[in-house]
Amino acid sequence: MSEGDELISKFHEMVDQAEAVVAFTGAGISAESGIPTYRGAGGLWSKYDPDKYANISYFMNDPTYYWNFFKDVRYPVISKAEPNAGHKALVELERSGKLIGVITQNIDGLHQLAGSENVVELHGNTRRIRCMECQKLYGFDEVRELVDASLPPACSCGGGLKPEVVFFGEALPIGAISRADALVNDCDLFISIGSSLVVFPAAQFPMVAKGNGAKLVIVNIDPTPYDGIADIVLHRSASEVLPRLVVGGEE
Ligand code: APR
Repeated sequence: MSEGDELISKFHEMVDQAEAVVAFTGAGISAESGIPTYRGAGGLWSKYDPDKYANISYFMNDPTYYWNFFKDVRYPVISKAEPNAGHKALVELERSGKLIGVITQNIDGLHQLAGSENVVELHGNTRRIRCMECQKLYGFDEVRELVDASLPPACSCGGGLKPEVVFFGEALPIGAISRADALVNDCDLFISIGSSLVVFPAAQFPMVAKGNGAKLVIVNIDPTPYDGIADIVLHRSASEVLPRLVVGGEE
């Protein structure tokens, strides 16, 4: 058995012994669903300027830049993406009663599409788009059509539309933070999956969980700043490792 396989079986044992597991996910878990990560090889940032398309003050001054990005990249990539084996393994763990919740930084909605029930979206969900005036909620496909009609797209009330995602410069949704805090306090095993753990305040959760006495496992292709405090570190792909954790998953 290779060293990596030994670590995976140790990880499997840790999950078996845990009472309350929390999964914390980043862009890496969706990479194999065709959604580029932000950092790391081929990351999205290398193609788009985050100070424009992901920055709230730029969006409020010139929403057209974002909506061009939506039309050319965000919509085609997200609408084609399907949950992968990593997302599905977390659904199995939740259904087995082991996993008490998923805290995700992702805005792609793939955990819910896979069947996860208790999902905390720290950075919102790009499939939900709301009018900034009357708060009317629009669907993803509906807005794609509106974008063809006018850039930037407008609500029937005349107001501007905004995706329900946290832009740089915006605060995280209070409700999400408190739900995430509760999960971190309740868990005895915290698994960080597919996150570079460099963006705060989300990246604090693994440290808080460890500080509360939970075991910490990191599954991430590249090293992260918290590898040194983790109980197990697997620089492997989520869709390879996670299915081997589910009850009955092969060793
Ligand atoms: N399996 C596991 N890890 C993977 C995989 C994979 N198949 N593919 C890539 N990775 C790892 C990369 O090594 C990288 O470290 O996923 C990590 C993704 O890191 P980021 O792109 O920084 O994504 P994330 O940590 O989610 O970013 C946090 O930053 O830009 C903001 O709001 C945005 O939510 C995002 C936040």
